[in-house]
Amino acid sequence: MNMDLSALPKNFTWGAATSAYQIEGATQTDGRGVSIWDTFAMQPGKTIRGESGAVACDHYNRYEQDLDMMKSMGLQAYRFSVAWPRIQPSGRGAANEKGLGFYDKLVDGLLERGIDPHLTLYHWDLPQSLQDLGGWLNRDTAFAFADYAEIVARRLGDRVKTIATHNEPWCTAYLGFGNGQFAPGLKDPALVPQVAHHLLLSHGLAMSKMRAVNSQAQLGIVLNQCSVYTSSDTPENRAEAALQWANFVQLYMHPLFKQAYPEVKGFVPPSNIEAGDMALIGQKMDFLGVNYYTRIWCSKEGVPEPAPYGRTDMDWIICPEGLTKLLVDIHKEYSPLPPIYITENGVAYPDKAAGNDVADPKRIEFMKLHFEAVAKAATQGVDVRGFFYWSLMDNYEWNSGYDKRFGIVHVDYATQQRRLKDSAKWYRDFIADQSQSAVQTETADEAIIA
Ligand code: FCB
Repeated sequence: MNMDLSALPKNFTWGAATSAYQIEGATQTDGRGVSIWDTFAMQPGKTIRGESGAVACDHYNRYEQDLDMMKSMGLQAYRFSVAWPRIQPSGRGAANEKGLGFYDKLVDGLLERGIDPHLTLYHWDLPQSLQDLGGWLNRDTAFAFADYAEIVARRLGDRVKTIATHNEPWCTAYLGFGNGQFAPGLKDPALVPQVAHHLLLSHGLAMSKMRAVNSQAQLGIVLNQCSVYTSSDTPENRAEAALQWANFVQLYMHPLFKQAYPEVKGFVPPSNIEAGDMALIGQKMDFLGVNYYTRIWCSKEGVPEPAPYGRTDMDWIICPEGLTKLLVDIHKEYSPLPPIYITENGVAYPDKAAGNDVADPKRIEFMKLHFEAVAKAATQGVDVRGFFYWSLMDNYEWNSGYDKRFGIVHVDYATQQRRLKDSAKWYRDFIADQSQSAVQTETADEAIIA
């Protein structure tokens, strides 16, 4: 397939993403505190085969090698998260120097190799001590988070290009408190809006503290979003689609960009809002991160969801045009938005190594389709600046354990050997090609000016 990416800006950033708990391992090293995922994974039946991130990709000990691998692929940027329990083992108080030191080395290692660091502060590994006090149900957690954000911004903000407060607050709120699939594993849908509000408040408080530190970093948040489709344009389907959109997208986008919660039939707004909260939450951001994997299908008449591109190993429907639709829809509803990064998009397949090779042609196809979907959104006026494939390497996929392989790099968990899949080699050549044409356009532009 030939891609038309001509609508993307010429300095568009191509990268890959990971998160701390999914790759680092070394959960008891250098003073790291216990996180809610350590606790959750130990409870029987919560994760597949009881798997946890205790070892994961052992990235904490192998980061130099992983940095070299990123460099060999020509990645322009790398999105990673900081483990809060490494920085403040109990979620409060003085910083743990060894924890900060790890990220210091990681950031310097990226910069030495010409890779832009994009940091996420919270990718779900809350210190257990804060959970013991109610976690995100407790308003105090939002203030603790802002202190943690300040520590990180002070230490790394001079070198990190972007800092996102949260990764996917929908997952933290809904999967963590609504249906119990993720840590801390509570199952009460009524808690979801309350948790969402505290997460958003913590974002706002952290933004203010980090701005005051005056770091160089651009600040924002990362939301997982789905476009919503209906099988037919009936009033019932329309109402269902509006409710899904409200719970998935507007619950977060409205307060962030309109300083108010949505008013939609059936939607339950938070009841724990205090004076001043909405202005804090809705303060200006420098970028918005969008994670996109699939769409939402609404059909009151029970029409099965079509899957022209098939399903992934997670059983998620592949829907590249849904990414274009999503970006155009939020652009229309929330304009003017800050610049957007696609901070995650990727696919799990049961990849197998044969010698040193891992053939994953379907992943390459998936990437091309989604790259083009982003470019199509750009033709409709959406300001997209970069794309991070999820994930750099196979890793611990939360309650699905190690079975689901999202990486462009294959990880053999028995030996920790990394192997570039065909998709990684394809991405490497693709990025090289993109950089070359960016240089050529620049030279041509200069020639015209001269
Ligand atoms: C996203 C998460 C990421 C990973 C992918 C598959 O929801 O942010 O950690 O699990 O899904």
